[in-house]
Amino acid sequence: MSAFYDQLSSFYHVIFEDWNASVERQGSQLKSIIQSNWSEHLNVLDVSCGIGTQAIGLSKNGYHVTASDLSANEIKRAKQEAQQCGQTSILFSVCIMTTAFTHHGGNFDIIISCDNSIPHLLTDDDILMALKQMYSCLRPGGGRFITIHNYDQEQRWEKRC
Ligand SMILES: C[S@@+](CC[C@H](N)C(=O)[O-])C[C@H]1O[C@@H](n2cnc3c(N)ncnc32)[C@H](O)[C@@H]1O
Repeated sequence: MSAFYDQLSSFYHVIFEDWNASVERQGSQLKSIIQSNWSEHLNVLDVSCGIGTQAIGLSKNGYHVTASDLSANEIKRAKQEAQQCGQTSILFSVCIMTTAFTHHGGNFDIIISCDNSIPHLLTDDDILMALKQMYSCLRPGGGRFITIHNYDQEQRWEKRC
């Protein structure tokens, strides 16, 4: 899986019609969800940040973001993207989510894993391990936010260059 996403890292943005617009939109949508459920919560851990779609969006909205992913190349690009838009406070590192607590420790307000990252875990044991590790990263009263798409039901579109 890391080899797949390492190769995709330079092109990952083309999955989106406009990646920068998605960073803005997802950042403000996540802020709205966090504020309505966990209004005082500011410290966010993203355990599958990819090139930074949600991590950078949340940082732009004033959150203190720590972000990791199993792909070293995606982390490298996420750092570059964050630098380019002035979000220099995000703490990026390489980590598989089944070791999130071991790697990051605890006391985060919010843990996120967005856009079909959890389905990359192929066994029940790995899913359970990831969820337990994410739970351990949270402070009491913290919130966890996971998003999953059913791509089989998404409309297909083709972008011609
Ligand atoms: C569909 S991408 C989503 C990335 C990002 N959240 C976004 O929306 O742009 C799925 C991500 O999950 C990461 N991933 C897959 N398995 C992982 C694991 N076991 N631990 C950490 N990250 C993982 C991949 O490297 C990839 O960056």
